[in-house]
Amino acid sequence: MLIRVKPSWAVSEASATPEATYLNRRALLAGLAGTALAAPFAGMATGARAATERLAMSAPRNAAYQIEREITPEAENLKFNNFYEYGSHKGIGPDAETQLKPRPWQVVIDGLVDKPLTLDVDELIGKMTLEERLYRHRCVEGWSMTVPWIGFPVKALVDLAAPLSSAKYLRMETFSDPELASGIRTQPWYPWPYVEGMTIEEAGNDLGFLVVGAYGKQVANQMGAPIRLHLPWKYGFKSLKSIVKFTFTDTRPVGLWETIAANEYGFWANVNPEVPHPRWSQASEIVLHTMERVPTQLFNGYGEQVASLYAGMEGEMLYR
Ligand code: MTE
Repeated sequence: MLIRVKPSWAVSEASATPEATYLNRRALLAGLAGTALAAPFAGMATGARAATERLAMSAPRNAAYQIEREITPEAENLKFNNFYEYGSHKGIGPDAETQLKPRPWQVVIDGLVDKPLTLDVDELIGKMTLEERLYRHRCVEGWSMTVPWIGFPVKALVDLAAPLSSAKYLRMETFSDPELASGIRTQPWYPWPYVEGMTIEEAGNDLGFLVVGAYGKQVANQMGAPIRLHLPWKYGFKSLKSIVKFTFTDTRPVGLWETIAANEYGFWANVNPEVPHPRWSQASEIVLHTMERVPTQLFNGYGEQVASLYAGMEGEMLYR
């Protein structure tokens, strides 16, 4: 049976339109978090606690990925996260901090590869050359951040896995152990685990990034410890957190949100200001820490790096 769930991203048209010239933080949270308004505020006081417990991590900044926006302060980022395994609101930080145990952590690489691998996450990290990249991060809900991620390109994982030529997609999966996340138990209507996918061509593009650190430390639980994805040209829901499995496959993966509402959260989900979400405009976005409303850019401003991936695919619904 297909259960239709309305995600908290499902802001009304009114709360996502330019009336937001007057929008303050309270109104933004009301619009974005819907009925769970009280929870984000509850989470804010303690969300920053996570920052004190992570190991320092440093890597040279890749100059190719400098951007013109200010970095979102870490404390602001930690107050405002989507991680439905801990609840359908932005203040999941304290629960993710206490419930998720990011080490030891096994990562499986399997499917259409010569030799399937199971690695400890630190062994995987040890095989990679880490770098820092400043990336814009645009959520389908209409807000954005700029984050200094530390990690390695997805294509380095593809090289390690050496997929067979029959592999057309990379499917990824978040953990689904209810012992690690209370929301998995309390929200059984979601089709866990959180799954996402991309084409093998997208995985081979330099921009796709596997994140293991942020703000000079190991990545926080609430941001997706110990390893999460960031595809900055796509809406944020494509970038799944706390990954346990990478599977090379010839079948197009169906993501958690696509399972729930395919017409709203599709496979491609490339950012495009001219293609509205069925229930709100995507023409602009609120930059979280300044509360400024700025125009959204095609491919979130990364067209130079990724537009060629979609050449000749005009018939596809590439932007939802
Ligand atoms: N990954 C998992 N496993 N569960 C989630 O709920 N939310 C997605 C994505 N990855 C999500 C997830 C959404 S909707 C967004 S916008 C980003 O994570 C948010 O990342 P952030 O909290 O680090 O900003």
